[in-house]
Amino acid sequence: MTSGRRPLPADLPPPGVGRPPRKSSDAPELADRIRAEIDAVPGRRITFARFMDRALNEPDLGYYRVATDRPTGAGDFLTAPETHAIFGWTVARRIEAMWAELGRPEPFHLIEYGAGSGTLALSILDGMRRHGAVELLAAVRYRPLESNPHRMLDIERRFEEAGLGGLLNLAGASPSAGSGDGVEVVPVSGVLLANEFLDALPVHRVVVRGGELREIFVARRDEAGGATGGSGGATGGSTDAAGAVGGVAGATDGATSGAAGGFVQVTARPSTPDLAARLDDDGIALAEGQVAEVCLGLEPWLRDVAGRLARGYVLAIDYGYDAAELYGSRRLAGTLLGYRGHRVEEDPLADPGEIDLTAHVDFTALDRLAATAGFRTVSRTNQSDFLVAGGLEEELRALQSSPDLDLADYARARSAILRLLDPRHMGRFQVLTLERNPAG
Ligand SMILES: C[S@@+](CC[C@H](N)C(=O)[O-])C[C@H]1O[C@@H](n2cnc3c(N)ncnc32)[C@H](O)[C@@H]1O
Repeated sequence: MTSGRRPLPADLPPPGVGRPPRKSSDAPELADRIRAEIDAVPGRRITFARFMDRALNEPDLGYYRVATDRPTGAGDFLTAPETHAIFGWTVARRIEAMWAELGRPEPFHLIEYGAGSGTLALSILDGMRRHGAVELLAAVRYRPLESNPHRMLDIERRFEEAGLGGLLNLAGASPSAGSGDGVEVVPVSGVLLANEFLDALPVHRVVVRGGELREIFVARRDEAGGATGGSGGATGGSTDAAGAVGGVAGATDGATSGAAGGFVQVTARPSTPDLAARLDDDGIALAEGQVAEVCLGLEPWLRDVAGRLARGYVLAIDYGYDAAELYGSRRLAGTLLGYRGHRVEEDPLADPGEIDLTAHVDFTALDRLAATAGFRTVSRTNQSDFLVAGGLEEELRALQSSPDLDLADYARARSAILRLLDPRHMGRFQVLTLERNPAG
């Protein structure tokens, strides 16, 4: 099946051309490391969140830590800013208004979590230039928070090439958002962006069995096809090895999962009461047999955001829903998906490091936790409405009337707009705007 999450247009030049392909031997090395961790822990199983964290973020080997550029036409998926700069130009309009609402502070900080190779920031800055926002451009300082050192080098190179190197604040190399980067954080005034960042945060997985909330762990698959390990251990609960949870669809038929990596999902008593507490706080009671994901990383992320932003706005754009919808009867198998080469990978445990793992964001929890962290929700809307209200059509008209109109670029912009607004694809992303001390 072709990825519906990140549809691939045929007409985009990949920004990451020329990068060396990763060695195919890298991924087994990561699977070996995960197997060694499983063997070493009591109970011989790790949470799915731990598996996902290593699969995505293991230094040098994780999906988001290798040289390969992911969110491009040539990569495994495509994000909104990578479809066309018109996305960033439109976001720039909103940021220009925010700067004015804050009283035009100088310097004005643009902080971006999961910045990738800087495409969104570069198109935002280009948008400001196109809009003649020269005073804002002079005030902007851009701070990418990107854990992939290869992407940080891309950012540096691309900003230098664009003559914008002076705006970059790269204090501390390759920071991993939320975990500190060894650099003292001084809270600033500005706008904090997170586009398709939160859906990459590791999630725990749970399932209801016999009316009880159980957690889905990752274990090794023994030669007989069952799970290695057993009862007791770190979580102190028994392991339902026979009821191993299957692939992405979350089938509970004991079907093998992760045959390639030799991993299987097993259920046991939850590793932390925080999983049940999150669902309770959301007002959610899962149905018998229902599989769901819970992202406990939202809270530390919001604390990190609060520590960085003294005054200003947060724009978080991602796949996701209200809790009632996310955990409702239409998603009984959860929203965890794996992507490889623009296609859905059926087994989330196969080839750790080679597959993008992602789960939709619980915006009810995000709203609530943001309030606890000292933010006020300004608005939440879908991306389609956000872009239209933000001036996407004006951007297209400006492109159309520009004296140096490039017809191919105009055609690209039009087709990108269709994708950005399509309610079945990027148009249904959620855009959450938060504010903190806007009056100063
Ligand atoms: C799906 S990509 C989105 C990239 C970009 N925001 C875009 O929209 O094109 C997610 C990005 O987040 C980065 N990332 C993931 N976890 C991170 C963390 N804990 N701290 C900083 N960056 C992280 C990845 O390396 C990757 O570049």
